Amino acid sequence: MMKDNLNLMRTKLYRLTIATSPKQQAISTKFKHHLGKIPISGGHMPIEKSEYIWMNGKFVLWDEAKTHVLDHGIHYGTGVFEGIRAYETVDGKSAIFRLEEHVERLFRSAKALRMTIPYNEEKVKEIIAETIRKNKLKECYIRPLAWYGYKELGLRAQGLPVNFMVAVWKWESYLGKEGVRAKISTWMRNNPNSFPNEAKVTGGYVNAVLASEEVRSAGYDEAIMLDHRGFVAEGPGENLFIVENKRLSTPPLSASILQGITRDTVMILARDLGYEVREANITRNRLYNADEAFFTGTAAEIPTPIYEVDDRKIGNGETGPITKKIQSEYSAVIRGKKQKYGHWLTYLYKR
Ligand SMILES: Cc1ncc(COP(=O)(O)O)c(C=O)c1O
Repeated sequence: MMKDNLNLMRTKLYRLTIATSPKQQAISTKFKHHLGKIPISGGHMPIEKSEYIWMNGKFVLWDEAKTHVLDHGIHYGTGVFEGIRAYETVDGKSAIFRLEEHVERLFRSAKALRMTIPYNEEKVKEIIAETIRKNKLKECYIRPLAWYGYKELGLRAQGLPVNFMVAVWKWESYLGKEGVRAKISTWMRNNPNSFPNEAKVTGGYVNAVLASEEVRSAGYDEAIMLDHRGFVAEGPGENLFIVENKRLSTPPLSASILQGITRDTVMILARDLGYEVREANITRNRLYNADEAFFTGTAAEIPTPIYEVDDRKIGNGETGPITKKIQSEYSAVIRGKKQKYGHWLTYLYKR
């Protein structure tokens, strides 16, 4: 409990340091020096309860959102999910970031399992927006999940009922730090012929949990996983970029990564800022010698600098200039400050 509170405090202070409004910036300057003094509790992210969860066709109270212990998804990891965020925008409104792409990916994930989600994409988008409105939230994390339910227990899932829920809650940035110390995990990403890494399937995340637990127990902030060939793949829940001589590189889809939507956003923003961006196989030694490196992901929010990998400083071990530019562009885009990318925002309330 104590650890959770400290972590919450740390993430709140961290958010202030990346704050963009003048009022927030003033508070940020005042508190910035406290950041380094608050210990990290290793990725525990307490969930702040909302009032309602949308589950199987209706809103239920948060504590009533229950399922059967014999659901297929609980036993065999046969579920698919998304992680999306809504942000308060500069005009005081609120918008979901890249809802369209997240819902498309949810349906692609379901296809990997040959699962039929009981609604179409349009309806899922409506349910998500409605769940946020019902909980009167302006800024939140959004977790839709479809999973095979209870009927039979065998390794075939075809014909089983599919449950569907959407939960939303206020959630701080997942990594909760200005920059992270990462370690390459001994757990490699699933071999693409053992598991469809492009799909957000619940069972696949055991791989990510193993890597995460391993390096966090050893005192690092986040894991980096290699693919089955030994090239850098990604973090347990984030994609990865490096900067070398002002050029950005990120592992290709063939490196067993999830096709991240933040990754795509950063590739577009960086190119629009005039940088060359490549998808390239990255060896661990190339990562050690990069000028800058950063993680991207919806849960982590703003691209997060990697200060160290395997106890080797990346660049000078601080947030690099290109990472900073991308962070600031990304923050402006999600808050609706850049008209050019307005089509990525789905506004929630009329006001
Ligand atoms: C394994 C993995 N890689 C990368 C990401 C980042 O993807 P996105 O930017 O779409 O959140 C996630 C998060 O969904 C993930 O789970």
